[in-house]
Amino acid sequence: MDLFEHQAKELFAQYGVPVPTGKVAHTPQEARAIAEELAAAGSSRVVVKAQVKAGGRGKAGGVKLADSPADAEEKARQILGMDIKGHTVHKVLVEEASAIAQEYYFSFLLDRANRTFLSMCSVEGGMEIEEVAETNPDALAKVPVGALKGVDRATAREIAQAGGLPEQALDGAAVLIERLWGVFVDEDATLVEVNPLILTEDGEVKALDGKVTLDTNAEFRQAEHAGLEDEASADPLEARAKAKNLNYVKLEGSVGIIGNGAGLVMSTLDVVAYAGEAVGGQRPANFLDIGGGASAEVMANGLEIVLSDPSVKSVFVNVFGGITSCDAVANGIVSAYQLLADRGEAVDRPLVVRLDGNNAELGRKILTDASLAGVEQVDTMDDAAKRAAELAAAGV
Ligand SMILES: Nc1ncnc2c1ncn2[C@@H]1O[C@H](COP(=O)(O)OP(=O)(O)O)[C@@H](O)[C@H]1O
Ligand SMILES: [Mg+2]
Repeated sequence: MDLFEHQAKELFAQYGVPVPTGKVAHTPQEARAIAEELAAAGSSRVVVKAQVKAGGRGKAGGVKLADSPADAEEKARQILGMDIKGHTVHKVLVEEASAIAQEYYFSFLLDRANRTFLSMCSVEGGMEIEEVAETNPDALAKVPVGALKGVDRATAREIAQAGGLPEQALDGAAVLIERLWGVFVDEDATLVEVNPLILTEDGEVKALDGKVTLDTNAEFRQAEHAGLEDEASADPLEARAKAKNLNYVKLEGSVGIIGNGAGLVMSTLDVVAYAGEAVGGQRPANFLDIGGGASAEVMANGLEIVLSDPSVKSVFVNVFGGITSCDAVANGIVSAYQLLADRGEAVDRPLVVRLDGNNAELGRKILTDASLAGVEQVDTMDDAAKRAAELAAAGV
């Protein structure tokens, strides 16, 4: 889960990482009120920053300096509602403007390829780090961090030095980097990035931006993280699926997909997209993995979620019987139909079912005998994908 900049900075502050003082506003009036508070505390110049989970906000016009509370209100008016890389701006961070002497880059991340953690540091901050890595790779230090050793003050200083930070920034950067390591470990993050990390004209080192990715696999031991979720921009169907413990991702197409096993579902998306090209560009409408033990209830919940999407014109149920055999899945589909009819949500769009693997014959027989309205069986994945795409095209 990625955090907004203001959430990242709130976390940083909890760990003693210096960040500018600021607050979040949802309206231009709120932005003005925050700017007035900051002015009363001695910062008449503020920065109004779009809060979206995308980089390059500065270049896109989503970060603006304001000279007065009235100006902050005006800048917030310009930024709120803006679209930055497909993200609508619903809130802005209004914070004190820092007097920047230099901008640096710093991050901790999980280096999967090398099975370690990595810190990256550069005296050339502010711009996109990919650009630094490409145009001036020597300016970007990459220092592996052993999980057991971690980062103490001395190691932190070495990292800053490797990044080429000047002498006067080293002590401040070392404190900040050591504390960011605390954030990285204690919050179960897979990325903590500060770009820019700045040296102010008064010689202070501060985090001026913050990007944090939290590892959702650690949710069970990070109770507070639930409060960081962004409900405003979550897709309503995805939210409902999540509440039912389903692995569902909304996509843009017309063929609903239900499968068991993430790998099978991923390849089903590909096969459907390919088959759909021949019939007016039909595409998969979602990713839904109902997992190994597909009970009738899980199947019913899955069907219900997929069918609640009005752009779904046909559904492809692709099951490879393994631990859960095909007869169990077929019974699940039959009961799901009954369950949905009882709930007043009878299946009203065609369903193409492909059963293969463990007890496939028996599963197919169960479905044939049940003769459910709108259900067709096709034996191979490619043919089933083709049929589902055709049915979707006919329904559009
Ligand atoms: N509080 C601030 N005071 C002064 N300048 C700022 C402040 N916050 C951001 N900036 C300037 O705006 C630039 C872009 O802001 P940043 O938070 O890094 O957004 P992004 O990375 O999305 O473009 C920074 O590199 C910095 O020069
Ligand atoms: Mg930045």
